[in-house]
Amino acid sequence: MDPFISISHQRSFQALLAVSFIYIFVIYQMPFFLDQIVFQPSSFSSPSSSSSSSSSSHSSSSSSSSLSSSRKLITDALPLSLPLKEEPLIVSTPFRPSKVSFRDAPLASAAPTPSLPQRQNHRHALQVSGLAFRDISVTGAFSELHMVAKAAWKAGRKVFSELEAMKPEEERDDKRSPKNQTTEKCPHSIVMSGTEFLENDKIVVLPCGLTLGSHITLVARPYKAHPEYDPKISVPVEGDQATMVSQFMMELQGLKTVDGEEPPRILHFNPRLKGDWSGKPAIELNTCYRMQWGSAQRCEGWKARADEESVDGLVKCEKWIRDDNSRSEESKTTWWLNRLIGRKEKVPIDWPYPFMEEKLFVLTLSAGLEGYHVNVDGRHVTSFPYRTGFVLEDATGLSLNGDIDLHSVFAGSLPTTHPSFSPKGHLEMLSQWQAAPLPEGPIDLFIGILSAGNHFAERMAVRKSWMQIVAKSPNMVARFFVAMHGRKEINVELKREAEFFNDIVIVPFMDSYDLVVMKTVAICEYGVHAVSAKYIMKCDDDTFVKADSVMSKVKKVRNGGRSLYVGNINYYHKPLRHGKWAVTYEEWPEEDYPPYANGPGYILSSDIAHFIVSEFERHTLRLFKMEDVSMGMWIDQFNATKPVQYVHDLKFCQFGCINGYLTAHYQSPRQMLCMWERVKLGKVQCCNVRR
Ligand SMILES: *[C@@H]1O[C@H](CO)[C@@H](O)[C@H](O)[C@H]1NC(C)=O
Ligand SMILES: *[C@@H]1O[C@H](CO)[C@@H](O)[C@H](O)[C@H]1NC(C)=O
Repeated sequence: MDPFISISHQRSFQALLAVSFIYIFVIYQMPFFLDQIVFQPSSFSSPSSSSSSSSSSHSSSSSSSSLSSSRKLITDALPLSLPLKEEPLIVSTPFRPSKVSFRDAPLASAAPTPSLPQRQNHRHALQVSGLAFRDISVTGAFSELHMVAKAAWKAGRKVFSELEAMKPEEERDDKRSPKNQTTEKCPHSIVMSGTEFLENDKIVVLPCGLTLGSHITLVARPYKAHPEYDPKISVPVEGDQATMVSQFMMELQGLKTVDGEEPPRILHFNPRLKGDWSGKPAIELNTCYRMQWGSAQRCEGWKARADEESVDGLVKCEKWIRDDNSRSEESKTTWWLNRLIGRKEKVPIDWPYPFMEEKLFVLTLSAGLEGYHVNVDGRHVTSFPYRTGFVLEDATGLSLNGDIDLHSVFAGSLPTTHPSFSPKGHLEMLSQWQAAPLPEGPIDLFIGILSAGNHFAERMAVRKSWMQIVAKSPNMVARFFVAMHGRKEINVELKREAEFFNDIVIVPFMDSYDLVVMKTVAICEYGVHAVSAKYIMKCDDDTFVKADSVMSKVKKVRNGGRSLYVGNINYYHKPLRHGKWAVTYEEWPEEDYPPYANGPGYILSSDIAHFIVSEFERHTLRLFKMEDVSMGMWIDQFNATKPVQYVHDLKFCQFGCINGYLTAHYQSPRQMLCMWERVKLGKVQCCNVRR
């Protein structure tokens, strides 16, 4: 039968059937049908694609195994996965010669590659100071410091040789333990009774610090005044009579920001009920960073002036009645009376000083946007603007000391996420921050940075900020000078850091504040022997150095090759003979100090450094615990034979920072990075980081 005819004779029912059949076919069969037709060609390439996928799984596993073996060098911050296409390329890539500066290498080359295990063997050798401290018998006024130095070198040598001999596996084992410690819980609130507080060494630990809106409330009672003979807060009265003192200190401390040294006091709140030198009750607030107090904020019962800086809209100091306490009852009575008789005019109420001997009080400290606020018995008393470069999360401990009996303490609205405190968290093991090897020829300026083993964050901030100026100049070199720390894990971490960044010179003695002067000698030694620099600068790891400006400052002096000493020079300073930081007559017999440049940043010409090193090696260099005074003394000595040009400039700022600075001091890591951002914009400005 002719199909053509048969179709033409279809009935509508059949037509409908056919249409629905086609419909069903399209819906269910079309994809496969299309698949067969359109994607047919892909089946030809399928063998290659499957081989590539198997090779990719192979290569990724091999790269991850090579990764784990090179973990020591490369941190987790680096990308772990590799672009697969490059895999064969990388295998054939020869290992970058170690001579080439890692700093010049693009960041991508730091990505984990199979060549990394080789690089591990090419870790930079530890740079050790060439300074030799030989055992000598010294007699006379300065033998004591020499004895301390002798012991410190002996102990340090031992620690250092153990560290040098340590195998990489041991280093990794040592690393594991501190890593664990940071996995603390972050409680939302903490309650502690007075007895628990005493058992806990008078510290409330706030594991994750504070955050905006956190508050700490304490119920406590000041003790009755007691006789005090120590003239620390009071003016000594005539004769031997003691002053009556009642005062206490509440402090927020940065327990975890530095390791093994006194924690910074982020807030020091010190009410003096009795015994303040003014003779009246007062409250002092302050901060202390690296044992250096800021300028105190004193509240003495006068309300802060209207034009004075406020904190979140609150005055820094509230008014209180200064004369006697009976007036407050009187004023309250007047106030009520005025209310009762319906007088409209505003009658100010005066309140007494918020603390009284043997009277319970409730104090709440809260963290605002611009500063801390203190309320006592429900009234605002004082506010203190955030000052140092520390953020709220750094405030990890509340301590309470002095003439006070704590009943209970409650901390609430605490942060629930954990900030990272570990040294490892501070170090960013990226090749872009690695130092170039020392240049072959002489340079203009060598900058020696005094640092301590545990100052990981400080060194990292220096690397990422002003050391970049040095890195870009072929005529400048900067190195950190670090001695051995008392804690082994710090030294292990330091070794890793030194081998990676290649910018640390280890001075192998046990670190101590009194022996900082040895690091200064080591800087001179390195500056003349290892790098042969025209000028040598000494600074600290909390100094921000505008290195290019410092260099042009020195060049501008142009003194025809005369010896040079540049800095913020102190003339006619006398040793402090009393107090905590007293200098004894044994240590410094003379009445005056010689002229000396402040320690955080000074420059000397290499002939002076040469003199210092050779005097040291001949054991004729007099050592004094204050390194900047020592330098002044040595230069004074040098000046006797060859005239030295002293150049004084206040822009080597000692107390902190001034705009247009050459160096700025007491800069926290956060402030350094902030200043660097400004320098990059061409602004030589200070940063008062608030939060
Ligand atoms: C440290 O980590 C290990 C696992 O890596 C764990 O078993 C151990 O309990 C942790 N220690 C502490 C003190 O958290
Ligand atoms: C340096 O020595 C010269 C003379 O030798 C002297 O006039 C000058 O006062 C000395 N400078 C200082 C700061 O002691």
